[in-house]
Amino acid sequence: MNEPLTLALPKGRLQEQSEAYLAERGFRITFESRKLVATDESGAVRIMLVKNIDLPTYVHHGIAGLGICGTDVIHESGYEFFTLMRLPFGSTKMCLAARKDLDPASCTGRLRVATKFTRFARDYFQRNGIAAEIIRLGGSVELAPVLGLAPYIVDLVETGNTLRAHHLEVVDELARIEVVLVANPAYYKFHYRSVDSLVDTLHRGPA
Ligand code: PRP
Repeated sequence: MNEPLTLALPKGRLQEQSEAYLAERGFRITFESRKLVATDESGAVRIMLVKNIDLPTYVHHGIAGLGICGTDVIHESGYEFFTLMRLPFGSTKMCLAARKDLDPASCTGRLRVATKFTRFARDYFQRNGIAAEIIRLGGSVELAPVLGLAPYIVDLVETGNTLRAHHLEVVDELARIEVVLVANPAYYKFHYRSVDSLVDTLHRGPA
């Protein structure tokens, strides 16, 4: 039997959906208590459960040959991968948002923007010729306008519930974010037969 393919899955919001998607297609994974590496029941895929933000680093360095990840995190990483397929879950939007009661005229000088996604934000403001001061946060970005750190945020919006709960609204949509299966290009070159066969199985749908 071939060596199992190596696939990184993101911990957190995409983990459950990724595992369910794989299980429906015959790749059932059980992680023993607190363990972050497991081989699926068929022995075809070795899974590494890594922090979402670190996933591109593991794939870039070839520790995992493949990864399931949002295009937000991939874009932020700056790494180039082969996109093998788009997955049918987890899509969101990257948005610029502000307090509903914000008077844009009250924002003089450089626009202060808090975000986890500094690359998205920088690209957006450069594209639009707007001088902006980007403040990097690690999460819970919606708090920034509420607490007065920055009037604007760039963040993911899925249901919009988090924005609503903080009296924020979308000002502009920067990009549609998809969840994709990516490959390290060198890994793909050496394992393309097995990788293509995995992609075919995933495309076929529930077993
Ligand atoms: C994301 C995002 C928003 C929220 C949007 O946060 O940063 O906070 O989800 O989802 P909604 O539109 O459905 O409310 P995540 O849960 O990834 O954690 P974070 O706040 O630590 O970034």
